[in-house]
Amino acid sequence: MTVTETIRQRRSIRKYIHGADIPPDDLNTILEAAMTAPSACNSRPWEFIIIKSEEIKKEIINIHPFAKHLKDAATGIVICGRPDLQHGVSDGFWPQDCAAAAENILLQASGLGYGSCWCGIYPKKPLVEKFTNLLNITSIPFALITIGTPSEIPPAKGFYDETRISFR
Ligand SMILES: Cc1cc2nc3c(=O)[nH]c(=O)nc-3n(C[C@H](O)[C@H](O)[C@H](O)COP(=O)(O)O)c2cc1C
Repeated sequence: MTVTETIRQRRSIRKYIHGADIPPDDLNTILEAAMTAPSACNSRPWEFIIIKSEEIKKEIINIHPFAKHLKDAATGIVICGRPDLQHGVSDGFWPQDCAAAAENILLQASGLGYGSCWCGIYPKKPLVEKFTNLLNITSIPFALITIGTPSEIPPAKGFYDETRISFR
């Protein structure tokens, strides 16, 4: 699949085949894609928590109102920001950097044939607090990405809108 095809084909997947796992090699490829994303001054202000425990999955489903599909996903990846790794020129850019990592995860997962869905956490304070406590972390939970074998294949959508483009 070309990059163009992968980008055009990717959709948020919220239905997964229960019990279908992701082999470690594929998970590593996805995480490497995340860490290959660009970041301000190459500060790479992120860390990734892979959710495998059924217990923690249940807790997440309880605290996140729009992530029920984690139930059947093979895993969830919680992308966490590390503002402590940014100084000077890169200071404050960590949400953009984490978003770039998130998009790379979605595209790489799609390229490998998995479905995925970005579930926002940051900047919603109650969600940030609940994830921080649940995962017992000092980094800032930014987004949960669910990944698994899709049991739905929504059609590709075209969002191209020329009214949003201008030239100067
Ligand atoms: C910042 C952000 C937060 C999102 N949060 C959720 C969420 O909590 N739950 C969910 O099911 N989808 C979530 N989505 C997915 C969007 O709903 C989805 O990308 C959008 O409807 C476009 O559909 P598509 O991804 O299939 O093109 C989120 C996407 C982004 C970028």
